[in-house]
Amino acid sequence: MSFWGSGCGKLILFGEHAVVYGHPAIAVGLSKETQVILDPRPGPTQIIDAPFRDERLNELIQKALPAQGLAVRIRSDLPTGRGMGSSAALCVALIRARAAYEERSLSFEEIHQQGFELEAVFHGTPSGIDHAVAAAGGAIFYRKDAEIELLEMPALQAVVLDSGQVGNTAELVAAVAEQRPYIDGALNQLGELTSIARTHLDDPEMLGDLMIEAHALLKLLGVSTQALDELVALSMRHGALGAKLSGAGGGGVVIALAPEDPNGLLQAALHRGIQAFPCTLPRP
Ligand code: PMV
Repeated sequence: MSFWGSGCGKLILFGEHAVVYGHPAIAVGLSKETQVILDPRPGPTQIIDAPFRDERLNELIQKALPAQGLAVRIRSDLPTGRGMGSSAALCVALIRARAAYEERSLSFEEIHQQGFELEAVFHGTPSGIDHAVAAAGGAIFYRKDAEIELLEMPALQAVVLDSGQVGNTAELVAAVAEQRPYIDGALNQLGELTSIARTHLDDPEMLGDLMIEAHALLKLLGVSTQALDELVALSMRHGALGAKLSGAGGGGVVIALAPEDPNGLLQAALHRGIQAFPCTLPRP
């Protein structure tokens, strides 16, 4: 008999980096996800199948699962290091798979609390937003140490464009920390944009404008790259309502609020060898 758990990927719409300092952020679940399947077997617990290699995987398994008696299979259609929450999705999937194996049911709050310890393997001191949305699945308004609010929002059509570069979240968060207090004003403004966005979730044009402002502030923090700036510009040239990097930056993805017909943007990306996919946010 197998035991399994899953966690979904995510995109941060507003508030990345600022959320580390107590400002609010909004994140949405993606249809892409990670699954963990556990099969009892004699001997030490071991990963027998994983879609990627990462030295931190073994450390994670040691923290998340009993030392003996399990074969672990990991399946995921989330790319790693792209700001799409692959590590958080994996942590949530592990927590749920273990609970299934031990025949326990966990509350959302329990999953979130346990997620901090596991996410620390990848992120050092995560704000907790990634694994909150990986567990919640929908759209969340997140503030550190405050109750997580599930947001009702109409579906947004978006295009995700992948820079192809891998960003290191822990390093980027540390680089932002080093610039304080000089960048505190930008962090405050990012938090304010989140609060404004929250009251305009049914207004894609307004959200688009706010995304452009958010990208400019993230650029000021030094977490954007030339490739990300170019993806934002490409999106706007092809009719996007707004676009910004999503996640820690240093690579990863840009999220563009889709024009009425996203095909022009998708074709332009394809033409340049850029991986891009359309999606509905939050996941249906
Ligand atoms: O995991 P990423 O790359 O999407 O980044 C998470 C968002 C940050 O605000 C940069 C870090 C955090 O812990 O909130």
